[in-house]
Amino acid sequence: MSQTDDTAGNRRDFLYYATAGTGAVAVGAAVCPLVNQMNPSADVLALSSIRVDVSGIEPGSQLTVKWLGKPVFIRRRTPEEIEAGRAVELSELPDQVAENANISGDATAIDANRTLDESGEWLVMMGVCTHLGCVPLGDAGDFGGWFCPCHGSHYDTAGRIRRGPAPRNLPIPPAEFLDEATLQLG
Ligand code: FES
Repeated sequence: MSQTDDTAGNRRDFLYYATAGTGAVAVGAAVCPLVNQMNPSADVLALSSIRVDVSGIEPGSQLTVKWLGKPVFIRRRTPEEIEAGRAVELSELPDQVAENANISGDATAIDANRTLDESGEWLVMMGVCTHLGCVPLGDAGDFGGWFCPCHGSHYDTAGRIRRGPAPRNLPIPPAEFLDEATLQLG
């Protein structure tokens, strides 16, 4: 990430580690970090459910946590991101399925079916490109969402694939708010 990207729109990416003592994490080292190279340790894999304090996430920023050995993006969207996501017609989407484990499997990929809350602020999804498993970059790409530099997949502000070889939207894992500051994954 360039300095310019880092400061653009006052947005920041955070890396949050859900458990202590599970090893070092390299931040932003590789252009194309593959998830299967993250080598989750047994104690991480055992954590089928984790709780994350999201109280420090400002609108327009994102926390990345590791869950079941994979990155999960927790983004608090800005009103502009919500508006952009909601303005998209279903017919514009290559994958028209919500890919949201919290709702019916045949729900459509309208913006409202991609977020955890009614206002559409909280977008929680696996940070794993549905093409070949790279970790997409936030605040990037042609649709204001995420960009996977491995083979050029663009995801929009709701994490839906819009262009490139990835076949599916970024999946939304089982997740719920236990209170306004605590998100449970799994
Ligand atoms: S792994 Fe993301 S575009 Fe190929």
